[in-house]
Amino acid sequence: MSIITLPYLSAVCHEALRIYPTQLFTFPRLVESPIEVMDYELNPGTILIGNIYSTHQREDLYPKPKEFQPERFLEKQFSPYEFLPFGGGSRVCIGGNFALFEMKLVLATILSSYQLALVSQRPERPKFGGLLGYPASGVKMIIHGRHQHQQQSKLSIVA
Ligand code: HEM
Repeated sequence: MSIITLPYLSAVCHEALRIYPTQLFTFPRLVESPIEVMDYELNPGTILIGNIYSTHQREDLYPKPKEFQPERFLEKQFSPYEFLPFGGGSRVCIGGNFALFEMKLVLATILSSYQLALVSQRPERPKFGGLLGYPASGVKMIIHGRHQHQQQSKLSIVA
């Protein structure tokens, strides 16, 4: 089974990026010529910044938005205007696919090898600094066991 195509692992990564996108806003865009966007007439010189965090918290798109529900990504395909952890348009993050690949690889490798428990039973809180959001106390965990592999792992990296 390919790590990259595991649907629930992908859904967990997407939901983590939805609920706490590490970058809360896109980089700014400068309007160069008059344009109308969603009934707003925008003049040259106007600066626009996409609010990733607030879009991902919209109740109409993500019912109970504060809840971690990876299943939403299995039930529905979100448009680039609804789910945008890596920004969008021609200046979209160039490392987005690489970052997702890395997330899945690290999670699958650790979770298939070790049994883990959270050090703190209290929910991890986000901390926001500048444009970025991250776990306030680093999600500290302890290893309390190893998974015994009877045979060589059936997980592979590429499809
Ligand atoms: C979870 C990891 C990451 C997140 C959430 C993230 C998020 C973002 C966001 C929101 C933007 C702004 C896009 C926009 O304004 O529309 C951006 C831009 C960018 N990111 Fe990432 N990024 C991540 C990882 C990476 C990695 C691994 C690289 C490089 C290998 C990278 C390189 C860049 C570059 C170069 C830009 C500027 C693109 C441009 O302005 O044309 N990012 N990223």
